[in-house]
Amino acid sequence: MKVAVVGTGYVGLVTGTLLAEIGHHVTCIDLDEAKINQLQSGVPTIYEPGLEELLVTNIEQNKLNFTTNHAEAFQNADIILLAVGTPKGTNGEADLSYIQAAAKTIATTVKEDVVVMIKSTVPPGTNDQVERLIRQQLVHNVTVDVVSNPEFLREGHAVEDAFHGDRIVIGSEKTDAGELMTKLYEKLDMPILHTNRRSAEMIKYAANAFLAVKISYINEIASLCDAIGADVSDVADGMGMDHRIGRAFLNAGIGYGGSCFPKDTDAIAHLAKEQNTPLTIVESAIDTNRKQRQKFINKMDRYFGSQLTNKKIAILGLAFKPNTDDLREAPSLEIIDALETKGAIVSVYDPIITHPKSATSIIECVTEADAIVLVTEWQDFITADWPTITKTVAEKLIFDGRNALPASRLQQEGWTYIGIGKERK
Ligand code: UDX
Repeated sequence: MKVAVVGTGYVGLVTGTLLAEIGHHVTCIDLDEAKINQLQSGVPTIYEPGLEELLVTNIEQNKLNFTTNHAEAFQNADIILLAVGTPKGTNGEADLSYIQAAAKTIATTVKEDVVVMIKSTVPPGTNDQVERLIRQQLVHNVTVDVVSNPEFLREGHAVEDAFHGDRIVIGSEKTDAGELMTKLYEKLDMPILHTNRRSAEMIKYAANAFLAVKISYINEIASLCDAIGADVSDVADGMGMDHRIGRAFLNAGIGYGGSCFPKDTDAIAHLAKEQNTPLTIVESAIDTNRKQRQKFINKMDRYFGSQLTNKKIAILGLAFKPNTDDLREAPSLEIIDALETKGAIVSVYDPIITHPKSATSIIECVTEADAIVLVTEWQDFITADWPTITKTVAEKLIFDGRNALPASRLQQEGWTYIGIGKERK
């Protein structure tokens, strides 16, 4: 099939590349000409393991191309996939201005019947609104049907999740539109759930909000573990052995960041409040997550007796999670600000992202450090040369914001290890 993808962020770019890889002809559109030119030359604009080779191969095989020209991309398209941003609005609601702009462009451009597939994360009811908007503004006498196809890609694993995700969700109001989606994805070995549009939109929000609740739940349990001397990692292991709970997303730490959980939890909480059915559990998870960073900062402040002035603190990790170059809502930024406000001298190292305080290596970052703070659990930090690090720091003190480092081994080498939910009594 011929597919036009509007938006070349990590969802649009990864999905467009996936669809080309499974045999479709894909044209990706973006307003940013520099971005389009870079992508057309086979150079990804985001860091996603496995993306570059797929991009280059499919461009070379003429199955994937990039343009800023909507009319060219929409011509003879069977499907137009919307993957534009839906950022957080001023009151936490989803800002749908990019979706509405794309809908208007479609309405005034398409000359043949087409199915519009909304992959962007949008509040339930948006697909209906977009279909109405397009039909009201159509210039040519064609049929446009809108279907919902939410994405479940994790940054840093987006290519893996695109090809081997847990499910594909299709929300449609007309059988033939739904069947076209089945055909689009037929080469993928993933179960497909067919439902109506509003349910498909809700599945995305309900799933993301639940994952955020799960994270905030274990972070609260971690605070209790610190108070009573239990080990939250063992508690999570024991909980996760129950198939009804599952071990994933029970890693206590400094809380969730990124472009999805903070935005999606705020959006669904906002919508629910508007509907007079507030999601108090989600609201509580949002609040817990906000406090989690401050709790970690307080741990450091307490340890130094509120005397952080001129202390050299080495921050390991900037990205909101490993294997990504994304700083959106990254805990690192808040932690760096807080430490510098308290007078600490901060050095930073991240394998991918640079920062004004970036060192060129882990060793340079930790040299003469009075404390190391692990903020992002990059594999590079876990497998780093800890014997050399031990000889390089001024003080063998580590605050592990992701409980990612081998506490007992470090303690045997004389380190004071402070994690989250790991305090001994
Ligand atoms: C998330 C959802 O997982 C994905 O399905 C959806 O499509 C987009 O949002 P993403 O935000 O890319 O994906 O990353 P994810 O791996 O889910 O982690 C989100 C945040 O939660 C990160 O800040 C991570 O550090 C944190 N996290 C994750 C925890 O604090 N504990 C955990 O156990 C897991």
